[in-house]
Amino acid sequence: MQLINLRMNFYSILITWYQKNMRVLPWRNTNDPYPIWLSEIILQQTRVQQGLPYYESFLKQFPKVSDLARASQDEVLKLWEGLGYYSRARNLHEAAKYIHEELNDVFPGDYKSLLTLKGVGPYTAAAVASFAFGEQIAVVDGNVYRVLARIFGLEMDISSSKAHNYFQNIAQNLLEEGEDPALFNQAIMDFGAMQCTPKNPLCETCPFEAQCVAKADNKINILPVKLSKTKVIDRYFDYIITQDTDQKYVVNQRLTSGIWQNLFEFPLIENAVKLPLETVEEQIKLEYTTYDIQQLFAFDSEYQVHKLSHQRLYIRFWKLEVGDNLKGYDKDCLLNFAYPIVLVNFIQKNWLKI
Ligand code: ADE
Repeated sequence: MQLINLRMNFYSILITWYQKNMRVLPWRNTNDPYPIWLSEIILQQTRVQQGLPYYESFLKQFPKVSDLARASQDEVLKLWEGLGYYSRARNLHEAAKYIHEELNDVFPGDYKSLLTLKGVGPYTAAAVASFAFGEQIAVVDGNVYRVLARIFGLEMDISSSKAHNYFQNIAQNLLEEGEDPALFNQAIMDFGAMQCTPKNPLCETCPFEAQCVAKADNKINILPVKLSKTKVIDRYFDYIITQDTDQKYVVNQRLTSGIWQNLFEFPLIENAVKLPLETVEEQIKLEYTTYDIQQLFAFDSEYQVHKLSHQRLYIRFWKLEVGDNLKGYDKDCLLNFAYPIVLVNFIQKNWLKI
């Protein structure tokens, strides 16, 4: 292990900074593990400002873990709509059902047992265990990697298999310099989010500036080191908004595993490569060959791009009117389902045209 100077009063410098700069956030006023866990699952997915309304609507609709457990998965997905990465919402619901049905609504009370919940990894377990139960266990997330890599000049690749243990040990040593693990964990997260930011960190006002190795060695922009880039695949989605002879629309629940499982969508033609507009039009006609096609057009000739962590989706919408009864849904019902956010945006923008 690279020799680092842990004796710099890290804990007390960090806490002094936090006391001046802390964000007031609703999940910090409680030590009830349910809202804390809920906030952490939401914050895995989005930033604090975007996460706040989701946190509030979940708690309003499901004030206790038993309320969340008793909800249907469709209700949970609808509330999660727009956050993306819907497996997190499904895991959240599964974990709530487990706590309700198997643990009589008693939340697992320490780091180790929190790890048995679906969707809870070392980071979330450490956050909940420290905030709710005062357990001495350090959180390690992207903020913590960045802060420690810079201040101590750690050049280990954070995407390597050794990195998590290495950073966890250092963070744990620093946390144990003081008495309040919850305070330390909140503080290091806020410090990473507000002061030691990925781009343009506020080094001039940083209380660690004098000791910061990255600052001294001019390595702020190269630390933390992350070598493996995630491989991104391209997919081409042509959604067909199919209106039947009763002015009803076809929507399907997406049952295949992978992205958007159990969300709703319009009939879809997917291609792995970009095909000319006319070719896709032929594919659609072929798909609907037994129907009485009255009108078919693309809303846009170009695809819009929707980026996910491992996929780039190219999305385009078509309108198809058929003279058959397809037993679809009324327009007014369409928005009761949970859709991927690109579809919600499309429906809202084109409500009059579809
Ligand atoms: N990001 C993840 N968890 C957080 C928390 N508890 N407070 C602020 N930002 C966070």
